[in-house]
Amino acid sequence: MNKKIDTEKCESFIDDLISKMTLEQKVLQLQQVSANCVGEKKFWEFVDKGAGSFLHVLGKDLPKAKKKMKNADKIPAIYGIDAIHGHALHNGATVFPSQLSMACSWNPKLVEEMGVATASEVASDGIEWMFSPVLCLGRDLRWGRVDETFGEDPYLVGELGAAIVRGYEKAGNVIACAKHYLGYGEATGGMDSYDTEVTERKIREVFLPPFKKAIDAGCSSIMTAYGSIDGTPITASHRLMTEILRDELGFDGFVVTDWCNVEHMVNDQKVFPSNYESSVACINAGNDMCMNSPDFYPSIVKAVKNGDVTEETLNDRVRNVLRVKYRLGMFENNRKQRNTIGAEKHKKLNHAIAKESLVLLENNGVLPLKKSTDKIGVYGLNATDVHNTYGDWTFYTHPDLNLNATPLSEAYTVWEGMKVVFGEGNLFYNQGYDFNGNIFELQACDTAVVVLGDHFTHNGECHDRQGIEVEKNQIEMLKRLRKLCKNIIVVMICGKPLLLDEVKENSDAIIMAFNPGGRGGLAIAEMINGDFSPSGKLPISIPHRSGQIPCYYNRLPGWHAWKYVDSPAGNAYDFGDGLSYTKFDYAEIKVSSKKLREGKSVTVSGRITNNGDYDGAEIVQLYYRDVVSSVITPVKNLCGFRKIFLKKGETKNFSFKIKPEDLSLVNANCERVTEKGKFQLFVGANLKNLTVLEIEYV
Ligand code: NOJ
Repeated sequence: MNKKIDTEKCESFIDDLISKMTLEQKVLQLQQVSANCVGEKKFWEFVDKGAGSFLHVLGKDLPKAKKKMKNADKIPAIYGIDAIHGHALHNGATVFPSQLSMACSWNPKLVEEMGVATASEVASDGIEWMFSPVLCLGRDLRWGRVDETFGEDPYLVGELGAAIVRGYEKAGNVIACAKHYLGYGEATGGMDSYDTEVTERKIREVFLPPFKKAIDAGCSSIMTAYGSIDGTPITASHRLMTEILRDELGFDGFVVTDWCNVEHMVNDQKVFPSNYESSVACINAGNDMCMNSPDFYPSIVKAVKNGDVTEETLNDRVRNVLRVKYRLGMFENNRKQRNTIGAEKHKKLNHAIAKESLVLLENNGVLPLKKSTDKIGVYGLNATDVHNTYGDWTFYTHPDLNLNATPLSEAYTVWEGMKVVFGEGNLFYNQGYDFNGNIFELQACDTAVVVLGDHFTHNGECHDRQGIEVEKNQIEMLKRLRKLCKNIIVVMICGKPLLLDEVKENSDAIIMAFNPGGRGGLAIAEMINGDFSPSGKLPISIPHRSGQIPCYYNRLPGWHAWKYVDSPAGNAYDFGDGLSYTKFDYAEIKVSSKKLREGKSVTVSGRITNNGDYDGAEIVQLYYRDVVSSVITPVKNLCGFRKIFLKKGETKNFSFKIKPEDLSLVNANCERVTEKGKFQLFVGANLKNLTVLEIEYV
């Protein structure tokens, strides 16, 4: 948290408080409880006892529990919620695009504003803690939680992660939780919660940097991952939790386990015989708080008495939790928040983000429609499905499944958006397919907006897929429409990249929307109409075939052409791809000096002109490659980007400052260093259109 507080005063307040606490009161500070896990009766027992934290408490229970604890003079509990893309578990709150969708904007400023808005809505409910952002990398597209990531690239994930953390913690009354520490998205076979087969070098090179950026941005809490790395459950890893996180990265917030990790280490990972040993390992490794796992509390009380956990360790853990509560002002009486749930200002922001998060992948000139007077057919179940437009982690799906809930917040599906923009009289809707494999009778039309994609149950925790094909019936429907309609515009509403080769063959344009949130459908219709020019670019690669996974761009080089004999080479769409209605030309790309010296920087600069017919934004990308290095380094690494808005005909300059540390690698001794020698710098619109510059670090 970046709020200014008097550190000395804070630490002495905590020391004083700890000196007055009983063993039981201390351990209770480290116990987090949800009614969903322990049941109503036990939940209220923990309220009476004074547990340190609760999660997923909404509605009347929250003020009731808070009041009970206040009247009993307990230390205030910190309440946590999964506000993953907006405070969306609260029906009526603003539902922003999913993290993956939002990442397509490559716009840290907007992402930070989204953080501010969400924190304010969360605080309106009296909640102090959100379990967001997800800083896992979406590198295995089979993994069920790709929708929750900012994509595949450590640099982009780190930049957007830091921005959202700044936003969440800006007002000082809510904290962020960077998760899932560490390497969770890379589990073997894309299987949620399984082992990640990576070395410490790779951890440091690929997975740790986004967490470092989040910590530097002031992130107050971190959640551990379910899985294990090279056979050690992360929850029990002293190396990751203490030596790296605390001693190296200097993290001074608190760490919470994920849901019932203590039990998982006993029942599933089978590294401890009972919850007692598991709880002891968890706290000794460096976790401060235990999510659910109600045996944690009695186990740790016993363990301190037995000497399996020292008083000093316990006090350290309690100190970490109390420090954050102090910074949040939870020991003061003036925590007031105006109710901003679903505020008009947040709706407008949601609209702006949705517009910048749409990626135009194909366009043979059919788009924009420019006030077409043709009758437009809107096809496909996902054109009207709010669940899939919102995506995972909303009041429909958590804490309990309630698919029949009526949304009290905005829910613009594509169909709703099309009606607003084109007028209902000019449209018809045809469901076309369902998720049971059916195709319905199809009407012909001149222009068809065909909304394809996946169902929200194809994504999420324990919903991994072995392949990422668009369902057969949807493709078959598209083929039939191709014969019936003159123009086909496909909109993809899906949690993750799906294979698009057959979609491309049977359409004139493809818009990738992922889960675009409450204003998504409106933004899509406006884009189809040409009210604005698309500017989103993919934060993740899309292969031709599922068997090409993993297909992230920053792979290590080999020498057999990176190609399978039975699929096209390369990706269908690369990280960084995205078209526009307008045309950008680059000029004068240069570097200020060919030599880079320690403690100094060089500047890469250029000029960009909007030579097309629309105002629009371009995302300039900067990559580097170490020409000769002691360990193999990626074929390209993103190390900078700029989103530049240009009016029609306008020219602007851009520049990037490159310091030696921006070109670093992790060597065989696990040290982050920049090695002397040549580097290539690549600047341009996407991976296929880059100007190459050379510099030398001397
Ligand atoms: C499990 C998920 O892995 C985590 O992301 C989430 O925050 C917690 N449950 C709490 O719901």
